[in-house]
Amino acid sequence: MKTLEYKWQSPSNIALIKYWGKHDRQLPCNPSISFTLDQAQTQTSLVVEFGKSGKPFELNFLFEGIENTSFANKINKKLESLSDVLPMLKTGVSLTVNSLNTFPHSAGIASSASSMSALALCLLEAQYALDGNEAATSSNLFRQEASSLARLLSGSACRSLFPVLGQWGKAEDLAGSSDEWAIGVEAHPVFSTYRNDILIVSRKEKTVSSTAGHNLMTNHPFANARYQQACTNLQAILRALKTGDVEVVGDIMELEALVLHGLMMSSTPSFILLEPNSLNIINEIRQYRAQSGLPLYFSIDAGPNIHLLYPAEIESRLADFIETRLKPFCINGQIIKDKVGMGASRI
Ligand code: DP6
Repeated sequence: MKTLEYKWQSPSNIALIKYWGKHDRQLPCNPSISFTLDQAQTQTSLVVEFGKSGKPFELNFLFEGIENTSFANKINKKLESLSDVLPMLKTGVSLTVNSLNTFPHSAGIASSASSMSALALCLLEAQYALDGNEAATSSNLFRQEASSLARLLSGSACRSLFPVLGQWGKAEDLAGSSDEWAIGVEAHPVFSTYRNDILIVSRKEKTVSSTAGHNLMTNHPFANARYQQACTNLQAILRALKTGDVEVVGDIMELEALVLHGLMMSSTPSFILLEPNSLNIINEIRQYRAQSGLPLYFSIDAGPNIHLLYPAEIESRLADFIETRLKPFCINGQIIKDKVGMGASRI
């Protein structure tokens, strides 16, 4: 019996154009694009024992070395539907996954993008090994297939593999773009310097899962207009990302964050993830930007925390404003400092 181990780390990401609404087998209703983050990573090891189990496959899941049956059940369910993409799941493999996050617990930071992309890379590498195809794991095709597998585990995870920016979803005039996997996108060098400070407004668990939120788009009265808007915004942001127009990128990014929350508030049933302090922070940022003229913008994920995004060269000029005007709205003054990063890597 052969035992092998695979280890990958993969980061979280913050979407500039939001993925919200999916259909069929985890395909997006509109294209999206995100900054790849640097510090918020999941490190995953996968130990594979070939031909050990009497069942098609078996899974043990450890989070930070401790068995976690709730994660195991969720992942087990997803893997049961993936034997067409990962034929090893029909061969009696035993999989032991051990995963840890490099960012603080219960900070309300979504970890599905980082954890599912790291897991996808480990699983696909094991499948390649079983197929006698080890040498191909540094190829572009491997990245593409890993992104596609990550997508099947959690949509936004497919974008985390790429340096600086990951784009997912078929888009007009964007060669190589696809609904099935994400691609890397070149941008003006200023965006590689971007900082992402995550202002922790609440650490409460999400009241509505992303999957439940996506499903509410199915009968949403604004769905078609939204998908059209995302396509238009993507075209505009791609142009601004190329030319280094930080104002246009910032304006579109803020609009997308507020539209995402507007869609949540206007679904049936409706739900609200923003907190009063999320709005206090937004108002402060907009007022400060109008007064200072500095390109400080925000984005928001499916939660109340506010992501500040700005070029590194203005970092020292913002420090006092963040400390005195924004930090008081954060729970225990918590701010997580991150920046744009280089994507997934073997460890
Ligand atoms: C608001 O990727 O978490 O972060 O595909 O159901 O796993 P599933 O959803 P998920 O949705 C993330 C949505 C978002 C916007 C984005 O990252 O584009």
